[in-house]
Amino acid sequence: MPVDVVLGLQWGDEGKGKIVDFLAPDYDVVARFQGGPNAGHTLYVNGQKLVLHSIPSGVLHERPLNLIGNGVVLDPAQFHHEVMHLAALGIDLHRNVLVSERAHLILPTHRLLDAASEQRKGTGRIGSTLRGISPAYTDKYARNGLRVGDIRFPDFQSRYESLRDRHLKQLNDADTAELNQQEAAWWQGIDTLRSFRLVAGEYFLNEVLSAGKSVLAEGAQGTMLDVDFGTYPYVTSSHTIAGGACTGLGIPPSAVRSVFGVIKAYCTRVGSGPFPTELDDTLGNRLREAGQEYGATTGRPRRCGWLDLVAVRYAALLSGVSQLMVTKADVLSGFDPLSICVAYEWNGRQTTEFPFDPVRQQPQPVYHTIPGWHLGKNEKGNDCLYAFLDLIARHVGVPVSHVSTGPERNQLIPLPA
Ligand code: GDP
Ligand code: IMO
Ligand code: MG
Repeated sequence: MPVDVVLGLQWGDEGKGKIVDFLAPDYDVVARFQGGPNAGHTLYVNGQKLVLHSIPSGVLHERPLNLIGNGVVLDPAQFHHEVMHLAALGIDLHRNVLVSERAHLILPTHRLLDAASEQRKGTGRIGSTLRGISPAYTDKYARNGLRVGDIRFPDFQSRYESLRDRHLKQLNDADTAELNQQEAAWWQGIDTLRSFRLVAGEYFLNEVLSAGKSVLAEGAQGTMLDVDFGTYPYVTSSHTIAGGACTGLGIPPSAVRSVFGVIKAYCTRVGSGPFPTELDDTLGNRLREAGQEYGATTGRPRRCGWLDLVAVRYAALLSGVSQLMVTKADVLSGFDPLSICVAYEWNGRQTTEFPFDPVRQQPQPVYHTIPGWHLGKNEKGNDCLYAFLDLIARHVGVPVSHVSTGPERNQLIPLPA
């Protein structure tokens, strides 16, 4: 039976958490397949806001089990914090969260290495979330990493110490001042992790599928932050496209049925790197305030700009997106007229392809302008909004199945096929 995949098609923060929370009751398992605590997925239920970083966004529902997949990098200290935060709200994650034994661990020294790397890069820094993501994936691919399943073996502590000491050789003393404290929190997190069901995620999921049950794969970040296809080097260190769901969970491509592409009605980006439709002006500031565009993980102001359909089209192509879900349409209410980037111009020619190196190639957006809409309170639709959605579907070549008009779970309008 099928796997459906939810992906962000821009630079992250498209509203994936809300969409996964909405879809979750229809599935038997929700599984995060990449990224780590760099993600911040916001769920809003009955006015209560909850931000999840490592935990899949199906945890508020009765039905699905939630798997942290092998493609994720997990920080035990952060995991502990999240488990405790939810426990205080009366949600016991032991009931419905499983962790793949193949997921890699983020060490306290990975966070220090992340900060040191950013400092070294100076003005060329990536704008990392400083959660240790890149050093943890680097160790994974350099075949030095520690995995969740390793915590069950008696040599775990010595393996931890040897990897930590290897990292310490790369760091200055100044970087390590608070390490003791961070290590205590980390080991507490390891104890918390031991209290969870650690599973062979690939066997678990394939058995679920063989039994005719369904899986929703939850992506983090967005296509334009993918390590291969994003705006390299200003990207994250994992595969954020649909292919990442297969390697990040251990499921075959043939199991994937639908790919839901989530896009914001405009664009945001947090951290450095190219952003062709950025509005570095009062309009951009107005968008940030209207959309409350501040990072769910770091609190940093998000850079804002117009919807970029060149990027969305590229993202839809890379992942075989079957339907688009457009969020934050309410935020654009009152912005009139609206601009939508439908092509780029560079080197005197127009293209609808995303360039190899947008920093050096400097593509200039070609805009299509349409009348905006004014959505009254509780008003659902509006002809100008539907014209906007129609324009998106035509340019991307993928239908829009839903439009979201507020942060709450029920503020999502299905559109006729
Ligand atoms: P994610 O990382 O893709 O899950 O997205 P984030 O949670 O980082 O950011 C999306 C923000 O937009 C969150 O604060 C959501 O509560 C909010 N949100 C999601 N959909 C809508 C919507 O349709 N309208 C409004 N106003 N807010 C939304
Ligand atoms: P969600 O899942 C938005 C960005 C960082 C930085 C770059 C690399 O909430 O959409 P990293 O810490 O991964 O090494 O940072 O990627 N970034 C995100 N931006 N949403 C996210 O996740 C992000 N995760 C990482 O700001 O530019
Ligand atoms: Mg987010």
